[in-house]
Amino acid sequence: MKKIILTGDRPTGQLHIGHFCGALKNRISLQDKYQTYIMIADVQALTDNFNNPQKVRKNVFEVIMDNLAVGIDPNKSTIFIQSLISEIAELTVFFSNLVTINRLKRNPTVKDEIQQKKELFKDDVTFGFLGYPVSQAADILAFQADLVPVGDDQLPMIEQTREIARKFNKIYGETFKLPEAKIGDFPRVLGMDGRKMGKSLNNSITFTDSPEMIKEKIKGALSDKIGGKNLLLLFEQFSDDKKLFEKFKKQYDSNVIKYSEFKPILAEAIIKKLKPIKEKREYYEKNLKSVEKILFDGTKKAQIIAKQTLAKVKEKMFLNYF
Ligand code: TRP
Repeated sequence: MKKIILTGDRPTGQLHIGHFCGALKNRISLQDKYQTYIMIADVQALTDNFNNPQKVRKNVFEVIMDNLAVGIDPNKSTIFIQSLISEIAELTVFFSNLVTINRLKRNPTVKDEIQQKKELFKDDVTFGFLGYPVSQAADILAFQADLVPVGDDQLPMIEQTREIARKFNKIYGETFKLPEAKIGDFPRVLGMDGRKMGKSLNNSITFTDSPEMIKEKIKGALSDKIGGKNLLLLFEQFSDDKKLFEKFKKQYDSNVIKYSEFKPILAEAIIKKLKPIKEKREYYEKNLKSVEKILFDGTKKAQIIAKQTLAKVKEKMFLNYF
């Protein structure tokens, strides 16, 4: 039996080269060894986009096409939509008894995000947003995942998931294995403005950007000490020419790098690496029916697994009436 991986993307914007250097490359290599589930977390995306459902809807397809374009193989990985697995919502309700409000408020990721979303939440926060770690635990436990590949910002979520699983097992009897986080050792790529590269921060390079756009973005990218280091990191990730990388690195280290020379070369390296990805994505854009089919099949498969888990849970909770 292959071990199980579950991971999720919030459909709030197109994926970008930051995801490519980190999560996506990792995902592609893992799909050969593990039974992989990739969840498009539309329900979670709504927790802070409840007032913009069209945005979430549109990005469900964008994120799926991004995954397929970079090499997620639907014959190896199961791609599905969270909201179509109603068992996840049911599990969330049962798990919500196992978590206190104070514990949720102490979750460092949630705490940070509430701070960042002051405009949306004002001085308070919604029940749904505060509780999304419970829903994420349901995502993970519904599939009895062994491993959850995530960025380090998601570690508190996996910790909460483990707590919930432990508590459930203690009260209702051994049911869940405890999932482990799998943190990639990849470098974190920054955005063109030196901030974290974000889906909705307007500072990223996406898989649909034209060569001209990529050149423009790199040209305009911050090239102070931190920005320059980031561009060098991008070159290391996107170019196969190690010698050239070493040359620019030396120049950077001794403060003589000429960005007017380096930037166009970096842009070309990115354009070259992204070319087959862009082409594959264009294929899917023209063949939306095939994307729908992949999703439909994936969702069917995911439903079967989640149903089995829910049946087990209900039995343990004496909710198996008929
Ligand atoms: N919270 C994750 C993020 O923001 C997305 C996500 C939703 C997820 N459900 C998940 C990740 C389950 C791993 C497992 O990136």
